[in-house]
Amino acid sequence: MSTITTIEPHGGTLINKFDPNLSIDHIQKEIPLDATALSDLELIAIGAYSPLTGFLNKEDYLSVVNQIRLADGTVWSLPITLPINPETAESLSTGEDVRLVFEGETYGVLKVGDIFQPDKQKEAEKVYKTTNESHPGVKKLLDRPSVYAGGEITLVKRIQKKSFSEFHLDPSESRKTFQQLGWKKIVGFQTRNPVHRAHEYIQKTALETVDGLFLNPLVGETKSDDIPADVRMESYQKLLENYYPKDRVFLAVFPAAMRYAGPREAIFHALVRKNFGCTHFIVGRDHAGVGNYYGTYEAQEIFTQFSSEELGITPMFFEHSFYCTKCEGMASSKTCPHDQEDRVILSGTKVRELLRKGELPPSTFSRKEVVEILINGLKRHEEESKLKGDQHEHTAKYHLA
Ligand code: ADX
Repeated sequence: MSTITTIEPHGGTLINKFDPNLSIDHIQKEIPLDATALSDLELIAIGAYSPLTGFLNKEDYLSVVNQIRLADGTVWSLPITLPINPETAESLSTGEDVRLVFEGETYGVLKVGDIFQPDKQKEAEKVYKTTNESHPGVKKLLDRPSVYAGGEITLVKRIQKKSFSEFHLDPSESRKTFQQLGWKKIVGFQTRNPVHRAHEYIQKTALETVDGLFLNPLVGETKSDDIPADVRMESYQKLLENYYPKDRVFLAVFPAAMRYAGPREAIFHALVRKNFGCTHFIVGRDHAGVGNYYGTYEAQEIFTQFSSEELGITPMFFEHSFYCTKCEGMASSKTCPHDQEDRVILSGTKVRELLRKGELPPSTFSRKEVVEILINGLKRHEEESKLKGDQHEHTAKYHLA
């Protein structure tokens, strides 16, 4: 049997910056990490963000913000930065090693490169296309400390996976899995939502022309009104069990924080899935969008700014899809001639509202098995947060997997 070669990682090499044996006893200085920086640290180290080998230095940062490319020209769309307080910044010198610490534990080491003051308004404008603080990504950007520390990292300790540990795979492992499954063409699917009928439709339409589907839900930080990752995971498994051929779908989690950066994040999501071994990537309507900040197909249009060689992964674009009562099936405006009133279209906000009230959205919108899990899961979360009382106020801003 001939071996199947997997797609080249972005930039040509799958980065590995994990070294549990690195001696760190002599390092005293510390940089505290927030949950986003911690997940970025691990994702850089395991090669998910190849070719990045650390947090962006100033030249790469400016180039990513302004040109959507690293300084050497490689396409890269989101500035992966390490924000630190001005007081910490004062105490650091270029070239020294500093511990990267989360909740008292050292997870990594930063070889300090550039310490620089970003223009966050400019970053917001360029990356998020708005400086409005009601945009959750912009709010997060502005809330984080004001100085950036760039430099190469080493991960010295893996993050303990509290939930669904069997679904956490490194890019080297997903690549091996695809080879073992004999898949040559693999389509990646990003989501921060449950898989509703429209998601299922575009996944299965893509699956008609490729060998396998890599269902890769994001389970890092999301805004508090998104459905919690543990509830979603339960629903994905139920759906796969009942409606997908077992040998054609592979489920694994993507532990990054959601940025809600629309078009820029679509490019980022695609490049990361390439690192995980995908050859194709689904971009539907308003990918990684929030509110009305981005046009319905802006996250598709941005792909035209780059050649297929420099992206290396092939985007698969889908129109806004829905169930049509006249067609009696899933469709999009590309395939359905009927009117708006024949189409079952519910906004995310409407669906969340129904679910929180314990009401079932129509089965033409979401499968009954999925909806039941969502309603029960949300009820469970609500009860848990009531029990926690005030404490919840402080932790509810973002969900952590
Ligand atoms: S997100 O991560 O992109 O914010 P979401 O679950 O909303 O997650 O979408 C996952 C993928 O499905 C994205 O590529 C999105 O564009 C696509 N998508 C979601 N709903 C639809 C729909 N009704 N029609 C077509 N594509 C959709």
